[in-house]
Amino acid sequence: MPHETFQTVTGQINWNAPMYRLYEKAKKNSWNPANIDFTQDKEDFQNLRDEERIAALPLVSSFSAGEEAVTVDILPMVQVMARQGRLEDTMFLTTFMHDEAKHTEMFSRWQHAVGVGDMDLSVFHGDSYKRIFYEALPESMERLNTDDSPEAIIRAATVYNMIVEGTLAESGYYSFRQIFKKADLLPGILEGIDYLNKDEGRHLQFGIYTIQRLVVGNDAYFKVFNDYMDELWEHAYGVVDYLTSLADEQRQTANFESSLEIDSDMMKDYALKQFNIRKSKVERARKYQNVEELETEATKELQQQ
Ligand code: MN
Ligand code: FE2
Repeated sequence: MPHETFQTVTGQINWNAPMYRLYEKAKKNSWNPANIDFTQDKEDFQNLRDEERIAALPLVSSFSAGEEAVTVDILPMVQVMARQGRLEDTMFLTTFMHDEAKHTEMFSRWQHAVGVGDMDLSVFHGDSYKRIFYEALPESMERLNTDDSPEAIIRAATVYNMIVEGTLAESGYYSFRQIFKKADLLPGILEGIDYLNKDEGRHLQFGIYTIQRLVVGNDAYFKVFNDYMDELWEHAYGVVDYLTSLADEQRQTANFESSLEIDSDMMKDYALKQFNIRKSKVERARKYQNVEELETEATKELQQQ
């Protein structure tokens, strides 16, 4: 596709665009996974009993594959925004992709540091996990290679930003903190999780804004979003259910008192709460008359943060 014009030649960057504000935030909040010290994690991990180590690995295994998947699957979204002439979105997405690469690096470094780098952890991916990360995510993202429609973009952002990031990753951080912060273990990976959490906050804002601007004043597109969320919930819940029941089983078979505890019902409630927050955030777009109104509000919100 030949270029007909360049935004920064005929004019300038839209400094107030929500995506440009996010791009500025991303540059300010940069961090380096190579600077995290995993020495204590290595010691903590070695001091865990076999059963407890097994309890930590399904979560790590889910995160590692998840971060790798979002790193390698993001490109079609970048290309769509670029093709549609959304310069500020494209600029922000360069930081987004870099963030995901660092998240992938962080987990792989941790696995290497504690001595499980060569272990095959894919046994911990259940059917629901596979449905989302092995199938739905790449399917929806790859569709963008040949389909620029609002429906295709909404579906891609729904599975990527609202389910994988907004529901599953958020619930994952919560369980990491519930399990390891309380037990005062693995400070390195917890430090990494704090950085990830901040990065994901920006990614979520990208997803919410992207879906919102497409559903403003359009009930049919809102339905595309809402229906796909409901369809994916079954699998998202399945991921949490599988991970918590693995932990429950471990606990029942262990013949010792473990410092690693997780309340399964609390985890499931937390995931449902995250899911509902994402839904209602997008639904707020329905109160705006047009995209300009939404954009003014989004810019205001970002300036306050
Ligand atoms: Mn990530
Ligand atoms: Fe992300």
